Amino acid sequence: MQVLLAGATGAIGRPLIRALIANGHTVSALVRTPSSHSIARELGATPLTADVLDRDALLRAVDGTRADAVIHQTTALREVKVARRIPADDPTGLLRTVGTANLLGAAEVVGARRFLTQSLILGYGYHDHGDRLVTERDRFGVFDGGVADEVVRACVSGERQVFDASGVDAIALRYGLFYGPGAFSDLFADMMRKHRPVGPWGAGGVNTWVHVDDAAAATVAALERGIPGRAYNIADDNPITWQEFFAQVSRSRRTPRPIRLPAWMIRLAVPYIGALMSDTSMRISSRLAQDELAWRPRYSSVAAGLAG
Ligand SMILES: NC(=O)c1ccc[n+]([C@@H]2O[C@H](COP(=O)([O-])OP(=O)(O)OC[C@H]3O[C@@H](n4cnc5c(N)ncnc54)[C@H](OP(=O)(O)O)[C@@H]3O)[C@@H](O)[C@H]2O)c1
Repeated sequence: MQVLLAGATGAIGRPLIRALIANGHTVSALVRTPSSHSIARELGATPLTADVLDRDALLRAVDGTRADAVIHQTTALREVKVARRIPADDPTGLLRTVGTANLLGAAEVVGARRFLTQSLILGYGYHDHGDRLVTERDRFGVFDGGVADEVVRACVSGERQVFDASGVDAIALRYGLFYGPGAFSDLFADMMRKHRPVGPWGAGGVNTWVHVDDAAAATVAALERGIPGRAYNIADDNPITWQEFFAQVSRSRRTPRPIRLPAWMIRLAVPYIGALMSDTSMRISSRLAQDELAWRPRYSSVAAGLAG
């Protein structure tokens, strides 16, 4: 297939281009600046330049391009500022709301009949889901009345827009937390090297992770075999606590020991991190993706992925 990929330079974008090309697809890579063209070309894609939040510029940039499918993988997680609240103009939220709408417009221009959008397991709600496995049958878009509701709202908006769009077969990929090159593991290793605190003491629950290479492979499988209208959880089979995650990153990257702060202090300074690392506990099942997409994570655990 001819694929238009937005977010091509990101932690998942880069392995995704490689995986698409390895499976015989061709990729038009949407990047924000001409300085990223060389990244796209080295990966084997043809670059197009546009800011996804600038609808007119985006539609102009893709005019004249044909594609069978659009894949939305943009985020501004690296631009997150430490703040007490998530602002209404948070760029990652805008990329899920406005960015999705604009990319659906781009899909129409390029003639794409298939649209895959990124989503996030945290849309199931920032609370303790207990020991049971969370599946796609669980309610997505659970609001806990806290600071993280904005994130959930944006994820729900992104999914609803693509499922409600006429003229495209839509699939949402609810990824676990990313680790691997360019993702959270690199971010936290860097913070540990700089002796910066990475999270709270005793951060309670577990969360479910996925290596970016596995997330990319699942995305290609969804492009080729995903059932229109489906949302798929994409995560590994071994949820771990944040403490275990920090310890494994520290060990594998040979950093100084992780510095942590009392949970109350984190909650006060950055309530979102408190909601994510202290309040949330979820074990995700990716059984549906494994069955319908014939996808298996190559790395069944964070320990395996960091070693691999
Ligand atoms: N990271 C996680 O743990 C995680 C977990 C679940 C789901 N997700 C979702 O998966 C997707 C990919 O995440 P990631 O970790 O790969 O993010 P990333 O490494 O931060 O990459 C973000 C990508 O989006 C591009 N981008 C940002 N703003 C843009 C804009 N206005 N117009 C066009 N492109 C723009 C960036 O381009 P530049 O190079 O120009 O900045 C980059 O290519 C995201 O949608 C994210 O929400 C992430």
